[in-house]
Amino acid sequence: MKIIQRPYQTKDTQGILDIINYNILNSTSLYDYNTRSYEQQKTILEDKISKNFPVIVAEYDGKVVGFGMYGEFRFKEAYKFTVEHSVYVSNDYHGKGIGKLLLAELIQLAKKQNLHTMIAVIDAENQSSVGFHEKFGFKTVGIIKESGYKFDRWLHSVFMQLIFE
Ligand SMILES: CC(C)(COP(=O)(O)OP(=O)(O)OC[C@H]1O[C@@H](n2cnc3c(N)ncnc32)[C@H](O)[C@@H]1OP(=O)(O)O)[C@@H](O)C(=O)NCCC(=O)NCCS
Repeated sequence: MKIIQRPYQTKDTQGILDIINYNILNSTSLYDYNTRSYEQQKTILEDKISKNFPVIVAEYDGKVVGFGMYGEFRFKEAYKFTVEHSVYVSNDYHGKGIGKLLLAELIQLAKKQNLHTMIAVIDAENQSSVGFHEKFGFKTVGIIKESGYKFDRWLHSVFMQLIFE
């Protein structure tokens, strides 16, 4: 299976949006209630790029099958060496190594940008993502209990961290 990994282009917006909206409607991996519009998603992606943060996509057979990005963790200046990232793979393509390709690339890019640490904020129900991050050396550093409410239940946010040596 030949996966092409490359920087985001505007033409990828709809593919990314489809993955995001699927996860909003069917999972707790995103804490949004409502699906996003094309314009909303495009603005989010362009905001990252304008701040010199990467957005990368995985393409298979001309189709966006996954993407990854990072951006500010929090907005005060002293957080400038810390980023929060996310990686999403289309549901039909899970377990084929695409997430690993994307996260490995994000880690390389973060190191090149002289960042110091990456944070993933993962819903506690999403144990496959917790396991996935552990494979890259991320450690659980905190769990913010009942920080989300979706699908008529409380959700807990797991903070996982990788510090570059
Ligand atoms: C999490 C996600 C990005 C992983 O991508 P993927 O392409 O399915 O994963 P890959 O096939 O690249 O690799 C998964 C690795 O994690 C491991 N993994 C998956 N589930 C696991 C679990 N429950 N426990 C331990 N390890 C697990 C796999 O074993 C595999 O490692 P291996 O190849 O050494 O066996 C993908 O499942 C996804 O998009 N999920 C929904 C969105 C999401 O939760 N994103 C994360 C928010 S930051």
